Amino acid sequence: MCGIVGYRGHNDAIKKTINCLEKLEYRGYDSAGIAYISLNDIIIKKEKGRIKNLKDNLNFDEQSNIAIAHTRWATHGESNQINAHPHNVGHITLVHNGIIENYLELKEELIVNGYDFVSETDTEVACAYIDYLYSKNNNKIEVINSISKYFKGSYALGILFDDELDSIYATRLDSPLIVGIKDDEYFIASDVPAILEYTDKYILIDNKEVVHINDSCTIYNNLNVVNKEINTFEFNIENNGKGNYEHYMLKEINEQPNIIYYLLNKYINNLEELPDLSKYNRIDIIGCGSAYHTGLIGKSLFEGYANTEVNCYVASEYRYQTNFYTDNTLIIFISQSGETADTLACLRKVKEKNIDTLAIVNAVGSSIAREADNVIYIEAGPEIAVATTKAYTAQITILALLAIKKSNTNIDTLITDINNIKDTISSLINDIDYVSIAEEIYKRDDIFFIGRLIDYAIALEGSLKLKEISYINSSTYPAGELKHGTISLIDEGTPVISIITDENIKDKTVSNVKEVKARGAISILVTNLDGMDDIIDNIIKVPKVNKFLQPIITIIPLQLLSYFVARKRGCDIDKPRNLAKSVTVE
Ligand code: G6P
Repeated sequence: MCGIVGYRGHNDAIKKTINCLEKLEYRGYDSAGIAYISLNDIIIKKEKGRIKNLKDNLNFDEQSNIAIAHTRWATHGESNQINAHPHNVGHITLVHNGIIENYLELKEELIVNGYDFVSETDTEVACAYIDYLYSKNNNKIEVINSISKYFKGSYALGILFDDELDSIYATRLDSPLIVGIKDDEYFIASDVPAILEYTDKYILIDNKEVVHINDSCTIYNNLNVVNKEINTFEFNIENNGKGNYEHYMLKEINEQPNIIYYLLNKYINNLEELPDLSKYNRIDIIGCGSAYHTGLIGKSLFEGYANTEVNCYVASEYRYQTNFYTDNTLIIFISQSGETADTLACLRKVKEKNIDTLAIVNAVGSSIAREADNVIYIEAGPEIAVATTKAYTAQITILALLAIKKSNTNIDTLITDINNIKDTISSLINDIDYVSIAEEIYKRDDIFFIGRLIDYAIALEGSLKLKEISYINSSTYPAGELKHGTISLIDEGTPVISIITDENIKDKTVSNVKEVKARGAISILVTNLDGMDDIIDNIIKVPKVNKFLQPIITIIPLQLLSYFVARKRGCDIDKPRNLAKSVTVE
């Protein structure tokens, strides 16, 4: 998490740096800061809270041609002005994305050598350590090149030296960093979309490379100057703001009909453009959060209809587990951002074993996209709301297409549903009265979600959406599991949201709903089936579509229900407390 940017060029560095920084607010938003050069001095301004608070305290008319800036998701030390970046120690001022894991050890060494600290952060220690190294060797490139010997963990750093005020230095280890180029202007940033307002030309910085920007940009790899490829960002990731929508989340929910139709239409008659999975008899899927949940949907589709064993793993567990591989295993990595630290670490672990890897990613050119053997982009465009909606359904769409291909399904059976899918989703968005269901549940402290197999996977995501943005405690269980303990929590008025779309096991789940209703629960049913009137207090009816497409549409009502519950509760829907969209810490 955390986003860093830097700019060297014309005299409007403050404005340009802050504009870029705002594009990175999805990475963290508990404090923000900037360091800029003005009248041969480094000025540091930082504020607790959103970037807006920082902006309110900046003079955008002040002339400066160099700045670095940061938006923070707190890891070491609470969110306050002192812990906010940039940090300054001795000759060094810097911004940092990542975690210096051995900072306590380094701090002790620095204290012995006379350094004092004002913040609780690992970043201030990194800053002091670079100053300490610089006091022993005044070759800046050598000093920055050497830090990977001392720092354990991850970092992308933007660095100013107070004795060289016309330069920005930068480096990275396992946190993303790019350099943007526009004629005589240079940017550094945590991702490419941050700089697109100014340029689509960028260089990807590799681990441990050192960037020196002054009148030109020089990149060193192991102290040797390297000529790096200048890429052009070719994807359309237009972000026209919220438009007429009150929140980005609602806008992104409404973008789903087009995105899903586009992907289905793009591939359904061109399945050969998708990777050939026929040789794999086992697939492992790895992701975090909602990306893990899409993996579970993929498991149901591949196992149910393509005769392929699938195991899903949460990345933060998988990376420390003993992993078993069989011949002909494919490992799929799912990640909206393509930068999630745990998912990336799993990819690197797997690659050491020479196992085939496929990434399903939204962010073009991200680390996971670049490092996997093969990548499929979900082409969902920038997702601004922290709670994912359109990236989640786009990931499922790709998994469904892969399962369709692997199962040799006759695509004629899908065409009508695909042709209608825009209308199907639009009517789920527009024609259901979510507000009145939200009215009934928004004051509750606990809500339960149940389902079996693919419906359980959907329930997990529905429950996560609700927790993320409304802060209501919600738990999800396989429907048959509730009676093994958790049913003790059900009492008068407890909302239980059941997902029932699998006809084969409908009756089993219906029995479980009756069990909770008998104990006073309010039953809210999301289903594509008829004939369950006796278990329903509220019903959300979804159309019945082809089994590969069903999960794509069944989640839509749960996204909207969460949205309207959160709105009723007055929550900050697009930027829920404590969360960030790109999780680059472990
Ligand atoms: C965060 C986001 C989730 C996302 C998860 C994994 O928790 O809020 O929406 O599912 O990270 O992120 P990734 O970028 O790897 O999909």
